[in-house]
Amino acid sequence: MNATVLVLNGPNLNRLGTREPEIYGSTTFSELTEICERHAQVHNLKADVRQTNSEAELIGWLHEAADAKLPVVLNPAAFTHYSYAVRDACSMLTAPLIEVHISNPSAREEFRHNSVISGVALGTIAGFGMDSYRMAIEQIARLNG
Ligand code: DQA
Repeated sequence: MNATVLVLNGPNLNRLGTREPEIYGSTTFSELTEICERHAQVHNLKADVRQTNSEAELIGWLHEAADAKLPVVLNPAAFTHYSYAVRDACSMLTAPLIEVHISNPSAREEFRHNSVISGVALGTIAGFGMDSYRMAIEQIARLNG
């Protein structure tokens, strides 16, 4: 059976496709889900893709990942820049955590330049649109194999 990777997405990412398409592209969240599921399958993984607008729910999923020792691909969205609670939950993970962003936050507004998550992630992939997720899944597969 394929090992599971959790692909967790924070606030407003359910709006992909219509949300600032000049920044985030035209792919919808359900298309992104399919991309991740298919890409994971090719790499003998099973992607469990979720999105929430709630910090509490995201933290609950991270606790689940910590308990089950699951690898995580995380787009924390705006929580990236200020949520010490999400960071603390990430710190409990024992399997690899890869932070992803669709855009390149470092090339955008000043408040996006700092990630409170990066310091507890294995690595960060940003600026490659939906390919950021594909690359992260590939890295999880490589680390898993
Ligand atoms: C984002 C970048 C964040 O700054 C922003 O708040 C998001 C999306 C990205 O994927 O590019 O919601 O994480």
